[in-house]
Amino acid sequence: MEYNESEFLIETLVPQDELIISRTDLKGNITYANDTFAQISGYKMGELIGKPHNVVRHPDMPKCVFKEIWDTLQEKKQWKGIVKNLRKDTGYYWVHATISGVYKDNELVEYKSIRTPITYEEKLKYQKLYDEHRNRDKENIRSIIYN
Ligand SMILES: Cc1cc2nc3c(=O)[nH]c(=O)nc-3n(C[C@H](O)[C@H](O)[C@H](O)COP(=O)(O)O)c2cc1C
Repeated sequence: MEYNESEFLIETLVPQDELIISRTDLKGNITYANDTFAQISGYKMGELIGKPHNVVRHPDMPKCVFKEIWDTLQEKKQWKGIVKNLRKDTGYYWVHATISGVYKDNELVEYKSIRTPITYEEKLKYQKLYDEHRNRDKENIRSIIYN
């Protein structure tokens, strides 16, 4: 995928009074998204349903975070943490996410995620931390090219 370098730098702020909600099947394909999720990610609802949740994966996110999420879910535990997500227009938004199982008659049927905004200080802290993780694991290095 080619990124438009200028839009790539634009942050969408997550409102304080709304939750960004989605659910996935057990493989991580989106089965439900609320209006706020569609708005913040820049997709139409119809574009999101059925897509793998990595549609909003930002290249700044280190792989180890997603490994931790899926390992935690596999253990039937809840994962809480901070995620930088990619918008359809290649802008980004930061969230605090709580991801956990959805149970029906005691059986795990789906996963759900509820997301809220984070502070400016948390964004700075996690951008630095995730940059370090990607460097450590020799993943893609963030670079901005000015022409
Ligand atoms: C309920 C649920 C919500 C998720 N939310 C996000 C999310 O907001 N952003 C994201 O990048 N990955 C999210 N993931 C993880 C993705 O499924 C995926 O593992 C991740 O984007 C990395 O992509 P990859 O597994 O193809 O490497 C979520 C997973 C689940 C089960």
